[in-house]
Parts: sequence; C-alpha cells; structure tokens
Amino acid sequence: MAVIANNCPQHRVAVVDINAARVAAWQSDRLPIYEPGLDEIVRRARDKNLFFSTEIDRHIAEADIIFVSVNTPTKTFGRGAGRAADLQDWEKTARQILENSTSPKIVVEKSTLPVRTAEAMERILDSNSKGMRFDIVSNPEFLAEGTAIRDMQNPDRVLIGGRETPSGQKAVQAIVDIYAQWVPSERIVTTNLWSSELSKLVANAFLAQRISSINAISALCEKTEADVSEVAHAIGMDSRIGSRFLRASVGFGGSCFKKDILNLVYLCEHYGLQEVGDYWKQVVEMNEYQQARFVSNMVLSMFNTVAGKRIALLGAAFKANTNDTRESPALNVCRALLEERAEIVISDPHALDNARADLGDAAQHVTFEPDPYAAAEGAHAIAILTEWPHFIELDYEAIFRSMIKPAFIFDGRNILDHTRLHAMGFNVYAIGRPPLTNFVVNGTEANV
Ligand code: UGA
Repeated sequence: MAVIANNCPQHRVAVVDINAARVAAWQSDRLPIYEPGLDEIVRRARDKNLFFSTEIDRHIAEADIIFVSVNTPTKTFGRGAGRAADLQDWEKTARQILENSTSPKIVVEKSTLPVRTAEAMERILDSNSKGMRFDIVSNPEFLAEGTAIRDMQNPDRVLIGGRETPSGQKAVQAIVDIYAQWVPSERIVTTNLWSSELSKLVANAFLAQRISSINAISALCEKTEADVSEVAHAIGMDSRIGSRFLRASVGFGGSCFKKDILNLVYLCEHYGLQEVGDYWKQVVEMNEYQQARFVSNMVLSMFNTVAGKRIALLGAAFKANTNDTRESPALNVCRALLEERAEIVISDPHALDNARADLGDAAQHVTFEPDPYAAAEGAHAIAILTEWPHFIELDYEAIFRSMIKPAFIFDGRNILDHTRLHAMGFNVYAIGRPPLTNFVVNGTEANV
C-alpha cells in the first residue's frame, strides 16, 4: 500500500488493522517489520496520502476500493486440518464490509486464497438487502520478503482477475488503472477470477518445487563426487530451465510456500485428484527431509552425539534481509538439536525477537546472542542457517581459535569459502558437496 501511495498521489490510501500496537508502530519511527527500502517510502507518503488507523468501520464506509490482506493460515482444526486454509478472518472481514458499506465497492482479494473463494465472498456480500453492488477482484501478490519494495516497484507481472460481466470488467479496469501508474501495460495481465486465484498457488508451488528438486539432488551429490553448485550452474544455463531458484539449501521456509502447496494439495483432493495432490505434497515432504537430513548429518559427524555440546546457529530468519522467522528452517534445526540435548546459541542481526516468540516454550533453553563471535565462542560447531551477507565476511580464523576442537562448520546455505575454512582447520560440511575434514587417522589425514 505504501508503494501504491507513492506512485498514485491522486489516491488516498488508509491501512487499517485491529492490532492497535501494530498501527502505532506503523505511525512511529520504528516500523514493525524489517524490509530494505520500506522506511523511506512509508516516511515519504505517511500523513500525505498514506494513513494508518484502527478505525476500520469508518474507512470501510469511506473507501471505493478495499484490498483485503488478512491472514489465511493453515487450518488447525476440523475438516482439512493441517492443509486447508482457515478463512475465518476473510469471512469476518467480508461481513464487516457488508455491515459498514453505504455505497458500491470493489473488494480486492490480496490474501492468498483457495480457488473459488471469491464465489463464497460474493455470496456473503450479495446477501445485503441494501441493493448495493460489490465487485470481487483477485489481485494476488508476488513480491518476496527482503526484496519487497523492489519487486513491487518493478514487478515481473501484475495479475488481476475478475468476473467476465460488464461490472466485473469495470472493476478489473479500476485496479489496472492503479498499477498502470508505474507498471508497463504489457506486464499487467488480466484473467478470470479462478485463473488468478489458482495462478498464485501454482507460482509458489513451482518455485518451491525447484528448491526441493535441487535439494533432492544435493543428497545424491553428497554421496558421489558431484558438487550441487556445479550441477545447478550446468543445468541452469539451459534457457529452458533457467538459473534462478536453484540454490540448494537446508530447505525453504517462509509463511507462503508450505501453506500454499498444502492448500493446493487440499484442493486437488477435494476434486478427487489424489495423484495430483500426492505429486505436489512430495515438494513439502522433500523439504522436511532436507532439514531432517541436515540435523542427522550434524549429529553423525559429531561422533553420534551433540548432547551437552554448545552449537552456534548463525541465522534465524527464513532468508536474508528479513526479520521474519515463520517456518524458518533455522528454527526447525534448532528444535531438532534441542531434542538431541545440544546447548543452542542463536545469532541473527534482525530476527532474534521473532525467533524467541516463534520458539515458544523451547526459547527458555536457547541463548539469543546478536554478536556472532560471542555465539561461536566455546562452541563445538557452528551452522549457517540464513544467507546474511555479513556471515561471509566474519573473521573465521578468530572464530576457529575461540572454538572447542575439533571444530565443525555446517554451511546450510553454501555461502562460505569451504576450501579456505578447511585449510584453517575446520571440518566443513556443506550442502551437496562431499565433506572436507581434518581428522587424522593413524598419522595420515583422512576424509571421514
Ligand atoms: C515467496 C515467493 O518467491 C513470492 O513470489 C511470493 O509472493 C511469496 O512467497 C508469497 O507468497 O507471499 P518469500 O517466501 O518471501 O516469497 O521468499 P523466497 O525468496 O521465495 O524464499 C523462500 C524460501 O526459499 C527461503 O527460505 C529461501 O532461503 C529459500 N530458497 C530460495 C532456497 O532455499 N533456494 C533458492 O534457490 C531460493
């Protein structure tokens, strides 16, 4: 909304939320999320044509267009638990819109929703006796955290789906006109409602599938003499495959991939397409396997036990340049190592508060240390779990000296110079490469 406000000075944008503390934070100098470039654009538009408020009813009444971006987490109860989307908040919002509207409105689905949700929303909104017209438009978001402003300012495409009726098409055009202020027209794609809703789920499923595919191959590389980065580079040069999203890692995280794929799986099952659902479910299962495999590699290589050993986890965020820890592989690795009774220290430049909150009860067994050098001091092992660029720049000689020997490093993001670390004396375990160890067996160096 801040990007829209910046590009469309003729429009007044009000962001409303039930959470007063969060609204207050948006109005302050300390925004509630860390996102490069966000502070600047919020500051530029705030109190000019961008407002933050808890007065939801008033702003609903005043608005011509309402973007609904409420949470749609995975259902934890009842039918579809663990897979289907929980649409409580969406439905409540639709009812609230209905209650407070006195003029026709365009309601835009911005939250990621199961296919055909728009239909249910239309039914609720059309149930009014005031004779008011509501048009539902689907406008899924494709920005990624950490590059959100850049993605929004310069999107690959903007997708807008609507009903094929005259009024539906007028609503689509109204949303096209907003984006056309800064997005070239050939990048604005219009479709029917269902294609738009489904495309969002499918885009995330395809992206996640690439990561699970390369991660599957990384397991094979570790057993052979192949190097997954070389394989990714070689296959990515085929323009039909492309080079992006082929970085093998400890696994993908974030609030979207897993949730959206499970949602897709549920949808397939709902329509009796069991095989199709199973196919996509495997993307999530491979991701879980990759994280479990990372932890068992750690335990096995550290002589089958990490109990009582200090392990420094560098990174808590699910990716660099965000403070978001939702579904972060770092926290899954942390939980698994706690079960092995390791002594865990986590270091992250921006995500420690969220990590503490997300870990819940487990947080009491974890030390949160912003300084990576202090985290590594006295540790048996360090594990890189988020690709923060400054982890590459650390003084690993100094870190090595401060650690217990033999010192282990597990690079879950393949961002470090492994040969250099090996030469310093580290036992280095990367993703999709054979380990580089410094163990000495019977007087000769042995690769174990
Ligand atoms: C993702 C999509 O990329 C966005 O297009 C989409 O709008 C968003 O979900 C959403 O649905 O809201 P996001 O989850 O913010 O964006 O971040 P990504 O850059 O996609 O990264 C997801 C995870 O995959 C991270 O944990 C990242 O480290 C991991 N990853 C990514 C890899 O392990 N390897 C790669 O090659 C790329």
